[in-house]
Amino acid sequence: MLNKKTVEDIDVKGKRVLVRCDFNVPLDENRNITDDTRIVGALPTIEYLIKNGAKVILCSHMGKPKGEPKPELSLAPVAKALSEKLGKAVVFAADDNVVGENAKKAVAEMADGDVVLLENTRYRVEETKNIDDFSKELASLADVFVNDAFGTAHRAHCSNVGVTQYLPVAACGYLIQKEIQFLGNAVNNPVRPLAAILGGSKVSSKISVINNLLEKVDTLIIGGGMAYTFMKAQGLSIGKSLLEEDFIGYASDMMKKAEEKGVKLLIPIDSVEASEYSNDAEIKICEGGIDDGFMGLDIGPKTIELFSNALKDAKTVVWNGPMGVFEMPNFAKGTNAIAKVLAELDATTVIGGGDSVAAVNKAGLADKMTHISTGGGASLEFLEGKDLPGIVAINDK
Ligand code: 3PG
Repeated sequence: MLNKKTVEDIDVKGKRVLVRCDFNVPLDENRNITDDTRIVGALPTIEYLIKNGAKVILCSHMGKPKGEPKPELSLAPVAKALSEKLGKAVVFAADDNVVGENAKKAVAEMADGDVVLLENTRYRVEETKNIDDFSKELASLADVFVNDAFGTAHRAHCSNVGVTQYLPVAACGYLIQKEIQFLGNAVNNPVRPLAAILGGSKVSSKISVINNLLEKVDTLIIGGGMAYTFMKAQGLSIGKSLLEEDFIGYASDMMKKAEEKGVKLLIPIDSVEASEYSNDAEIKICEGGIDDGFMGLDIGPKTIELFSNALKDAKTVVWNGPMGVFEMPNFAKGTNAIAKVLAELDATTVIGGGDSVAAVNKAGLADKMTHISTGGGASLEFLEGKDLPGIVAINDK
């Protein structure tokens, strides 16, 4: 249970409430939002604040403008989308200084229940360095602070951490509560058996998560590009598949650790191999190792069966990272099959990490999962067992 103050624990009526959201949503070349999951995720907190008579001042980053105004990374499209979803005006405080004259004027003119969205906080160079000046400026707009940006909780920036030093109270919103409840219960208080599925390209980016999950899970399934380093550690040939030489020893250690802990650790027993990294490459199914001159780009049919059987009795499943190069149709079968297995399980299913979430969305199975996290890096760091600075900065109850 999250022992932090929530939006319901603070008095918001007539107050200027600065709400940090994660509106870092993908845009196409015409700046249309292509996935509004994070905007939808923020609505319950915003709606609660409107209903309870707060003056709602929203802020977020978008992309990495590196401390200067970049019109292509303006939050203007988010203001429009929010306004449509809330069914009321959202005043966009276009302001290259984020907290400049336009923002101050927009806030000064607010009535209770109004909503203002500030410009991309990363237009300011201080933001990602957590430099006090900008934290103070943000705080000067508001009376209280609410953080609902789970996706940014692994960063210690002005708008989610620094600002809490200059306002009397920092509470969390509903999205953060929900994320911590599902991710936290899944790994720390799960209904067992608990299985974790890890994929994606690199072992190096999942070192701590593998190590931490081996302390908690009953079954650990490893697929995706990172599986080839594990296969290599088992003495199998991997052709020209992705390999992180420096992590072969680590992969061996993890396999040993799994054995000692009685954790079932599964890696692919067959693969879809390709002559090159292309959807049009020559492809074959190979068992065991990968043939010379080929690279493994997806798990094979026997592995799909192996993984599906291992998941069949699970009561909680956490999934982070795709099983293959799912963006290319010829290498998407493994990821889609796992998504389908999870969708049909009678279990709590928690999906974290940008790529696995995208895969589940692409397969049209999002509503069949118990929880889809809005955090990529944040959910990974949470699964590593790390304290997230954005959560730590919220006041305890
Ligand atoms: C994300 O997309 O994971 C968050 O919005 C954080 O973005 P960042 O990796 O640019 O800090």
